[in-house]
Amino acid sequence: KFEGLADTPQMGWNSWNKFGCEINEQLIRETADAMVKLGMKDAGYQYVNIDDCWHGQRDKDGTIQADPVRFPSGIKALADYVHARGLKLGLYSDAGATTCGGRPGSRGHEYQDARTYAAWGVDYVKYDWCDTKGLNAEGAYTTMRDALRAAGRPILLSICEWGDNKPWDWAPNVGHSWRTTGDIYACWDCEVSLGSWSTFGVMKIVDKSLALRKYAGPGHWNDLDMLEVGNGLTPEEDRSHFSLWAMLASPLISGNDLRKMPEAVRKVLTNKDVIAVNQDKLGVQALRMLTDGPLEVWIKPLAGNDWAVLFLNRGEQALERSYDWHKQPLSDDLSKRSADLKKAAYRWTDLWQLKTGDTAKPLTLKLAPHSVTMLRLTPREGT
Ligand code: GLA
Repeated sequence: KFEGLADTPQMGWNSWNKFGCEINEQLIRETADAMVKLGMKDAGYQYVNIDDCWHGQRDKDGTIQADPVRFPSGIKALADYVHARGLKLGLYSDAGATTCGGRPGSRGHEYQDARTYAAWGVDYVKYDWCDTKGLNAEGAYTTMRDALRAAGRPILLSICEWGDNKPWDWAPNVGHSWRTTGDIYACWDCEVSLGSWSTFGVMKIVDKSLALRKYAGPGHWNDLDMLEVGNGLTPEEDRSHFSLWAMLASPLISGNDLRKMPEAVRKVLTNKDVIAVNQDKLGVQALRMLTDGPLEVWIKPLAGNDWAVLFLNRGEQALERSYDWHKQPLSDDLSKRSADLKKAAYRWTDLWQLKTGDTAKPLTLKLAPHSVTMLRLTPREGT
């Protein structure tokens, strides 16, 4: 695969969560414009990703065409439009003969499709797993990786296989991220069956990804699926969802209508301090350090001896607690780092409320249902 494309988790937007198959080139252009105008680009979002249903038919040589009604100008023109704004373009395909939405997949056309994408100026491929009976997942994704390599353009490969074939065991050398679960659903902790498959709320996905933290690192991330921020969760849930995806070093791919985004939603998606936790150079996925009834405490070691600490109330009642730092030393096996809280007092900054304090005193937590307090800890000088 191409190295250096995902040293930190990739950030962007994808059409699927909000628009499904109801997409067209105007939507993509307006979204790229909104990304620039609303400060998303400045906050680090880079990829504008077209998901399923952009496809038309293959021509007589087998070359894939864009849907002539929805994308009459073609994908190359869209890539040019997006590039002119300093952004990058992503496209969706599938390892099987047909995509999940019933459009032509890449099976048997991998090298040809990779060449087409490269010629169009595509920067990112999300590669799905519908209609793959009889295919070996590692083999199929490796074929697409090699095809992209051979096409010569640096293209990020996002593996979308839902965790069924343990991609964490083989995908680090194949793609830049892999989905850990089935599709996300815009709810807190539900599981919604859609016929033959299930979709999962935010907390279900977090729980399913808990054991996978050791597999994540620069260039190879656990993908907890595209964000549902702005798609119907409560304001507290939007903040918690975004904070958790940041802590867990997941790709941050927004999935709402950026053109009609309320200011409150924009503020969540562009919180630079929370994004900095996600994009931290150390690239370590957060650890759930403590579960105490509905209260969870998550920690993420950061570059420069900083820590991110997340207090989450996943329950239905408001929660008040005094948290004594000295009773809970922070330590992380993966980064072999621990914080000596007795000796080294840390200053903390609350990344949503912009308050500050230090770890010498217990922290007073007041958490509404489904809400978080997210802090960044920095060692105090001279300690
Ligand atoms: C699968 C993927 C989704 C989306 C749809 C498109 O369900 O997991 O993210 O790409 O296909 O059909």
